[in-house]
Amino acid sequence: MGELDSAFIQDIEHRPNLKSTEPVGDGIPTIDLSALTIADTQKLASEIGLACQEWGFFQIINHGVPLKLQRKVEKVAKEFFELPSEEKRKVKRNEVNPLGYYDCEHTKNVRDWKELFDFLVKDGIVIPASPEPDDKGIFILVLGLALKLIAFLRREVFQEYAKQVEKLAFKLLELIALSLGLPENRFSGYFNGHTTSIRINYYPPCPFPHLALGVGRHKDPGVLTILAQDDVAGLQVKRKSDGEWITVKPTPNAYIVNVGDVFQVWSNEKYQSVEHRVVVNTVKERMSIPFFFHPGTHVMVKPVEELLNGENRPKYKEYNWGKFFVNRSRSDFKKLEVENVQIEHLRL
Ligand code: OGA
Ligand code: NI
Repeated sequence: MGELDSAFIQDIEHRPNLKSTEPVGDGIPTIDLSALTIADTQKLASEIGLACQEWGFFQIINHGVPLKLQRKVEKVAKEFFELPSEEKRKVKRNEVNPLGYYDCEHTKNVRDWKELFDFLVKDGIVIPASPEPDDKGIFILVLGLALKLIAFLRREVFQEYAKQVEKLAFKLLELIALSLGLPENRFSGYFNGHTTSIRINYYPPCPFPHLALGVGRHKDPGVLTILAQDDVAGLQVKRKSDGEWITVKPTPNAYIVNVGDVFQVWSNEKYQSVEHRVVVNTVKERMSIPFFFHPGTHVMVKPVEELLNGENRPKYKEYNWGKFFVNRSRSDFKKLEVENVQIEHLRL
């Protein structure tokens, strides 16, 4: 079986306890979105609000994205990862363009046991050329859905998927706004030219699941993540009540939703972005497809004023999403000696 490259080895305190990775049935809450059609919006919003507060994570069923489309996306994605490495590397990301195939991702400077493919939901999105605050230069991301991807990544399938999940994302955004006592369209204005991306994660079987992780512990930087996963368990969420790592049990046709750092700031920490990670196993490959719902690059992220008062003072300095996004997409590119930018650094 050989030895594991030391780049993959997690520090002892971050290694998974494989004895407790059996999926836990009564883990994150389940929200049934079919209630939306019977117009019980406020009740649904409260359920979601409670899930956001207690877990930062929930799963949704009856979400409206056609099952057939989901299956098609999974099939095309799988075909891509089955291609020989030389083929996949033809669409590899680089220093300038942070989108495409990648097989050397690091989280907190430890290499992840996975391959991925990233693309933007909208093409031609303008982002800052660098994370430097004074650099006014721009860069246009052209590896969106319109890119001439290799034949396998069938554009129309992903275009339709992006459209459907985007619709769902806006719906969730409205429900979360309501749950905070805000008008349902309170956040919609932040998504002009949004930098939302879809990632396809592929976790090959790993002979060293006790030492390596598919993705190391992290929080998602964006607004919301809507994740489709196959039937192989692997995602673990750090339970807020006691800090235990809880394995999310795959539910057929459900999506896992979590609030990201932007919501933590907007809600002034009422809803916290929760740490999660992915464990791997020796026999089964696993695939997941997160939709990272992100604001537009021009957006300044800060606690929502209507939620603030004498007792609830802003906990974060405002920051520009575009600069933050560029910093994050660049810095996980290399094995850096320092931690990349985190919202904790912006805490007041
Ligand atoms: C991510 C992530 C979880 C998974 O890509 O940010 O947390 O189950 N993925 O693949
Ligand atoms: Ni994540």
